[in-house]
Amino acid sequence: MLDVKAEVAKRAKIVDEAIDKYLPVKEPEELYRAARHLIDAGGKRLRPVLFLISAEALRKDWKNILPAAVAIETIHNFTLIHDDIMDRDEFRRGVPTVHKLFDESTAILAGDTLFAEAFEVLAKCNVDAKNLIRAVELLARVCVNICEGQFLDMSFEKKRVVGEEDYIEMVKKKTGVLIAASTSLPAILFGENKAVNALWNFGLYCGIGFQIHDDVLDLVGKERIGKDWGSDIVEGKKTLIVINAFEKGVEIDIFGKGKASKEEIEEAVNKLEECGAIEYAKRRAEEYVEMAKKELDVLEESEAKELLKAISDYLIKREY
Ligand code: IPE
Ligand code: IPE
Ligand code: MG
Ligand code: MG
Ligand code: MG
Repeated sequence: MLDVKAEVAKRAKIVDEAIDKYLPVKEPEELYRAARHLIDAGGKRLRPVLFLISAEALRKDWKNILPAAVAIETIHNFTLIHDDIMDRDEFRRGVPTVHKLFDESTAILAGDTLFAEAFEVLAKCNVDAKNLIRAVELLARVCVNICEGQFLDMSFEKKRVVGEEDYIEMVKKKTGVLIAASTSLPAILFGENKAVNALWNFGLYCGIGFQIHDDVLDLVGKERIGKDWGSDIVEGKKTLIVINAFEKGVEIDIFGKGKASKEEIEEAVNKLEECGAIEYAKRRAEEYVEMAKKELDVLEESEAKELLKAISDYLIKREY
């Protein structure tokens, strides 16, 4: 049996060492401290770990492309800093968010710094220039897609009716594409063109399932998620859970009200549980992960391939 957590932890350590190497603190120190704050607070490092295992599934030595793993985690952290400003959240990874600990201007700049540094680090991969150019192009497009997805996420707060298809389109962009980039960039960097599509689709479907599960955890995960739980209801996020509940005629009075007590949030979660909306979302997440696994059929059998499948299950079973 594969021990998913141990396999992830082993590779996360390699990623952490590479982060220290490729992202040193510079002057002005306060800006870099803000930029490194969340990175240093930890996180699951799932995206760079998926990147390394995808390289292994192609039977490639990832040493020459390790900077790209750092670039992916750097982009992820940039999006988190800006996301916390947009979502008005105060905790992440068990610590205060960057705009809370520093201030909003510093947080915006810290995010921008990481965004640019990611491409600087990506350029350090030791691969064919033409493959590197394709990787830069893909990652840049992914960042544009994340902005589109985050824009949709925010605009849905003001839109009265949002359907399931709208939600899927939004999460594909805000979350799916970065995970798709994580799983497909090794194939691009090594010029393994035949595997690119399948690995992209694998990551994309995993990413959709991952975000649905994140939305479930926002309701049921409580303190253990290390983030402001219940924030999605208070902010008025159109998650798959509330879309389903609203379709069933359920009403949540604190929805989008900007603040609520723990008891009021608990009450709303109970309603969402009772009407079956949480169960529904969990089922949909499972369907996406099943679709993801099928994409791997084109890869040769290997331990890495089995590990990718096991991690895809973990993405929607994880407790934080
Ligand atoms: C959080 O991602 C942002 C989403 C796309 C839901 P993770 O759950 O991977 O966050 P960390 O990196 O482990 O903190
Ligand atoms: C995903 O959505 C955020 C990004 C793509 C950055 P969320 O807003 O749900 O992420 P969390 O829950 O704050 O981590
Ligand atoms: Mg958020
Ligand atoms: Mg958000
Ligand atoms: Mg969330």
